[in-house]
Amino acid sequence: MATKKIDTTLVSAGRSKRYTQGSVNTVIQRASSLVFDTVADKKRATAGRAKGELFYGRRGTLTHFALQEAMTELEGGAGCVLYPCGAAAVSNAILAFVEAGDHILMSGAVYEPTQDFCTKILSKLQVSTTWFDHGIGSEIGALVQPNTRVVFLESPASITMEVQDVPAIVAAVRAKAPDAIIMIDNTWAAGILFNALAHGVDISIQAGTKYLIGHSDAMIGTAVANARCWDQLRENSYLMGQMVDADTAYMASRGLRTLGTRLRQHEESAIQVAEWLAARPEVARVNHPALAQCKGHEFWQRDFTGSSGLFSFVLKEKLSREQIAHYLDNFHHFSMAYSWGGYESLILASQPEELAAIRPAGGIDFDGTLVRLHIGLEHVDDLLADLAAGFERLAS
Ligand SMILES: Cc1ncc(COP(=O)(O)O)c(C=O)c1O
Repeated sequence: MATKKIDTTLVSAGRSKRYTQGSVNTVIQRASSLVFDTVADKKRATAGRAKGELFYGRRGTLTHFALQEAMTELEGGAGCVLYPCGAAAVSNAILAFVEAGDHILMSGAVYEPTQDFCTKILSKLQVSTTWFDHGIGSEIGALVQPNTRVVFLESPASITMEVQDVPAIVAAVRAKAPDAIIMIDNTWAAGILFNALAHGVDISIQAGTKYLIGHSDAMIGTAVANARCWDQLRENSYLMGQMVDADTAYMASRGLRTLGTRLRQHEESAIQVAEWLAARPEVARVNHPALAQCKGHEFWQRDFTGSSGLFSFVLKEKLSREQIAHYLDNFHHFSMAYSWGGYESLILASQPEELAAIRPAGGIDFDGTLVRLHIGLEHVDDLLADLAAGFERLAS
């Protein structure tokens, strides 16, 4: 049979009869105890506890297995670990592969709590971090040390949205340190717009809180590993007690069914808004990976199959605190929130010095206020009208 398209996989993945039991969706199996009828059953469950046998709630139930299977198929891995949130997925994936004396390489433009995990937790465990310029490409080879154990990427960058040359980074790291584990925070691409494992990455991590859940009402993290990392990631995460409840796992599976359709609408509207912003006299630059003016656009064009709803733009002017409040407090369709990936539009503003403070390498090359948008599923005309009114407020 011909290879399935991703939309078809999103509908079918993780929906075998074992998991749906006659309904369309996977069953919600809530359990701590899973009971065995016979000693032989108990023995079989114990032997197969890491291979999808029902053993004990912390190893997962049918609801978890269905989601894990779906994510593994979607991202082309050997297995998927579920976590209570994206931050847990990031920290536990790294922890699974480091020990005292190890060194990790981390982009200086990753999500701020990921940075804090290195400076506040890994440092206590005598694991050192070297930050690299997000746009480093093959020059990363020069930073690899004999004890480099993990290389961590996030593409596009948090807030400033630069896209990384992942294949060049992977090739350079592999040449110097074949055993180093390369991980990526693949949340922006929802795990499907960038096939990280096919590009040589070992572990693809997502804050499923964003697009998998898609409705801003639950939190989950996922990490899909290739064959060489799967056992270690799974067993370490298990020992760290990483677990998510069955209801949330169900909601993530449910989210998958509409993920492709939602993403296409996020993409279409976000590109329309980004292009509109690029033509505005108030705007210095639009950081949307699909626009040529975004750093790393050529890598997005080469490696990604689409874009999602999150991007940012830089104003020519640096706004005062009062201007920012006047601008942000009066939108009708954009709310302020730290998260993104739901059906609703969001807006946040950052000053260049605030961003510089969370760029331990690479720095910031603009002076104006940056605005980050998440373009939701509202009609784009209403969003454009809201943004136009925002510019009028700034001018008044
Ligand atoms: C890129 C990225 N990674 C990880 C996380 C953490 O996810 P969670 O909030 O589910 O812990 C976030 C949250 O905003 C994020 O934006």
